[in-house]
Amino acid sequence: MFTATTIAEVREGLEPVRRADRCIGFVPTMGALHEGHVSLIRAARRDCAHVVVSIFVNPTQFGPGEDLAKYPRPLEEDLRACREAGTDLVFAPTASEMYRSNAVTTVRVGKLSEPLCGAFRPGHFEGVATVVAKLFNIVMPGRAYFGEKDYQQLVVIRQMVRDLDLPIGIVGCPTVRETGGLAMSSRNRYLSVEQRHQALSLNQALTEARQAVTAGTRDVSMLCDMIRRRILAAGEARMDYVSIVDAASLEALQTVDRPARMCVAVRIGDCRLIDNMPVDVPGAHG
Ligand code: PAJ
Repeated sequence: MFTATTIAEVREGLEPVRRADRCIGFVPTMGALHEGHVSLIRAARRDCAHVVVSIFVNPTQFGPGEDLAKYPRPLEEDLRACREAGTDLVFAPTASEMYRSNAVTTVRVGKLSEPLCGAFRPGHFEGVATVVAKLFNIVMPGRAYFGEKDYQQLVVIRQMVRDLDLPIGIVGCPTVRETGGLAMSSRNRYLSVEQRHQALSLNQALTEARQAVTAGTRDVSMLCDMIRRRILAAGEARMDYVSIVDAASLEALQTVDRPARMCVAVRIGDCRLIDNMPVDVPGAHG
């Protein structure tokens, strides 16, 4: 496995791969890797001849007062995890390598960046789309792998690739969960034992709401109330949002009458957790 810290090293390292016409699979990450990230690397390994992982805590997607400074950066452990999962090249640049001081160009994926997390983290998806576009231009992969854990991010990136005609296949991968159902996240390490227990309520609430949909409940405000109550019953938490949206457009629904996604964002202590789950109504055509 080769570790590159500059854009020039990546281009040089991948030049023979490209010349040999070998498919490049790319997994962008911010490091602090866990089984969720590893599942993406394994999926890339299965599909592609050459696997590239980036590790970059991207400052432009963090808002003021968010956890940029304390975001975990265990680089040695991350490199070991990449090696074990079969990565060929890791790109771990510094912020000054990625952003020249006079850069003014950004990528904004219009309407899809506005609801859900976009409403609570202004500028977040512009930061994500911009860094992912830059990474795509540096690595030039045939396929790139993203987790459904960050469902809005996956939808935003798919739209960006479509709108900008980038010749890259976006592969969405299922959320990897801990025993008990908590979605794995680099931020879970901020949780105390008690908070971690409380955090299980996100998945439980979504699972119960999905069961309610299966049993015939279609009213979104009823379902959202049910989710909210279930999470708040588990302990002190501040809800950023509970929302059921059209799975493709992310528009808020009143009734579950088409393929939809239930999405929650909750603050427990200093930790902001998100989770989501698909709901499909039998016989509905979106
Ligand atoms: P990060 O949070 O490190 O996540 C990197 C990738 O891993 C994302 O595609 C995310 O959806 C996926 N992932 C995280 N937890 C997962 C889980 N439990 N199961 C499955 N996949 C999971 O997302 C980012 O970094 C950044 O925004 C990035 C795209 C790298 C741009 O900076």
